Amino acid sequence: MSRTNGTAGPLVLGLETSCDETSAAVLDGGHRILGHVIFSQDIHEPFGGVVPELAARAHLQKVDTVVDQALAQAGVDLREIDVFGVTAGPGLIGALLVGVCWVKAAAFALGRPWMAVHHMEAHLFGPSLENSEAEPPFVALLVSGGHTLLLHAERWGEYRLLGETRDDAAGEAFDKAAKLLGLAYPGGPEIERVARSGEPNRHRLPRPMLRRNQQPGDGDYYDFSFSGLKTATVELVRELERKGALDSERAHVARAFQEAVVDVLVSKTMRAVEQTGCERVLIAGGVAANGRLREELTARLGGSGRLFHASPRLSLDNGAMVARAARFRYDRGETAEASGSAAADLAFPGLTREYA
Ligand code: KG4
Ligand code: ZN
Repeated sequence: MSRTNGTAGPLVLGLETSCDETSAAVLDGGHRILGHVIFSQDIHEPFGGVVPELAARAHLQKVDTVVDQALAQAGVDLREIDVFGVTAGPGLIGALLVGVCWVKAAAFALGRPWMAVHHMEAHLFGPSLENSEAEPPFVALLVSGGHTLLLHAERWGEYRLLGETRDDAAGEAFDKAAKLLGLAYPGGPEIERVARSGEPNRHRLPRPMLRRNQQPGDGDYYDFSFSGLKTATVELVRELERKGALDSERAHVARAFQEAVVDVLVSKTMRAVEQTGCERVLIAGGVAANGRLREELTARLGGSGRLFHASPRLSLDNGAMVARAARFRYDRGETAEASGSAAADLAFPGLTREYA
């Protein structure tokens, strides 16, 4: 296929509106980023979390501009797009519907196929946009505001679920701890920033589901839980408040909290590495932007292992990963039905639940 702008291969437009980022990307052949725009909504900050109704409305106000800017960057006209991809779930239903309706309308008007992309599968593709070696086989740790999944992939599209969270997601835990400490939303980057000047062991917080004597056959060997850590953090913060010491201890608490989360995430990931014999690890989702998590995983993997992660821009929610995932689904001959829609709890395609 030759193009007026000299590109080759199908042009894929990916749209992401599942939470609080409105993002669109145009990819050449579904791999090379030609245009990419991410608009992060800042209206939620006063509420300490994403307000679904506000998110949906803001997506609606912004979606046309974001798509137009991505197309302009790419030097491509909407009519030249061959394949559309959109996050169809999981996420906030009102927010998801904005993207899905936009893409369905465009695909229908232009007579092109559209792919209903799973948000967490899209995150898996993030690192491959920057590094062609970020391909299966790998053990993947998917850590975002809504999910904490540990899986093993022999190839794209076939994912063996090893563990998941039983309560809060890792990003959610960061956000809640940040709120307790009086830090802004989203909490993950704030905790990381404040923790830089904190001592790791001045306060000790629990490492839930990380008993030393756990065996691979135990149901909780790979699973995560962050609610106990949250309770322990609440108690610690209250005690410091009573003593009037929260201001002087904030950085130390943030550091202790981050160490506890990182320790659990890394330890469980290393269990998966040992059990599968796969020393290639991919981390994705918003929490994968955490420097301490990357540092600790790199150290524990040692010289023989490989860690793949995307740059922060492609770790957070973005349209490029959606376009990349859409290309993969397109190559497999899949297209969404005309009646297809968004689903807040969309099932992860190709995921088998097989605990150790
Ligand atoms: O993947 P993502 O952008 O959106 C969802 O799909 O949820 O992830 C957002 C989550 C938020 O909970 C945010 O606090 C967390 O990722 N996050 C971080 C960092 N940057 C973002 N958590 C820890 N450290 C970070 N540097
Ligand atoms: Zn995400």
